[in-house]
Amino acid sequence: MSAQKPIVVVGSINTDLVAVTKRMPAVGETVIASDFQTHPGGKGANQAVCVARLGYPVRLIGRLGKDAFGAELRTYLRTTGVDMTGVATSDGVSGVAMVVVSERGDNSILVAPGANSKVTPEDLDANISILRDAGMVLAQLEIPLETVEYLARICARENVPLILDPAPASDLPPSIFKDIAWFTPNQTEAAFYLADKHAESSPPTPAETAQRFLSNGCRGVVLKMGANGIFLGSRDGIGSLVPAFFVNAIDTTAAGDAFNAGFATGLMLGKSPLDSAAFGAAVAAISVTRKGAQPSMPTMAEVEKFMEKESHE
Ligand code: RIB
Repeated sequence: MSAQKPIVVVGSINTDLVAVTKRMPAVGETVIASDFQTHPGGKGANQAVCVARLGYPVRLIGRLGKDAFGAELRTYLRTTGVDMTGVATSDGVSGVAMVVVSERGDNSILVAPGANSKVTPEDLDANISILRDAGMVLAQLEIPLETVEYLARICARENVPLILDPAPASDLPPSIFKDIAWFTPNQTEAAFYLADKHAESSPPTPAETAQRFLSNGCRGVVLKMGANGIFLGSRDGIGSLVPAFFVNAIDTTAAGDAFNAGFATGLMLGKSPLDSAAFGAAVAAISVTRKGAQPSMPTMAEVEKFMEKESHE
């Protein structure tokens, strides 16, 4: 075991069935795709694989089904260096995501959760020693909400920082915010979470948005604003914009996962939150220049080379 405290990811594991199309089909319409691939995906597994690519120790807690996808994913994930001790097998199917990528690189995703919907609080109890040993825990919302709530309480009790990626947008209980170290919505998710409370005519600024999440009780907020960069806010009053890197995006699937993994790895390596956000932005920028979710995640050497080159431009 390395002296570094591992990052633990609690989340979904999917097979992504990816169709590339010139344009998204409208309701009732059939469109012929220009390409099709299958890739390992799932927000949880994507974040875990990205941390492993960056060379940091990582463990995954989740569930696979008893099907061919499950067996393939388990074998593949082991080869990436992700510790799979916390991944159980359930009867029934594994998670699958139908991903449609437009030729501009943006995407729409429909997830059939399968075994991911069977990740329970009992699974967390069964893996409590893994959670206690964690330097940081990463979670998303592709597993049951009650499990994520329970996880947040464990993290608070065990004093392990939790980074919650609130995707896909779901009805989070207000009590969860006090147990979150970093809340990391993208712009669509931020609008969802603030929708009922603030019905102004003009959308809130990033600083106002961050402030509203902080007043809900979390200790830090990272707003992922795509080409508009990253806005970082924390209880210490920091409000900073980290500019996006400009790259030729061919597939934005899992860009948010790449960012979260990079941000968490940066923090675990002792970087400041601001430097960790810039590091995460670089990880995400590289990922969108490549096809697929997990195959697009860069190594530490690739990120360092990219950041070095960008600093001279
Ligand atoms: O964040 C991207 C991921 O969302 C895809 O890999 C897909 O599996 C869905 O979980």
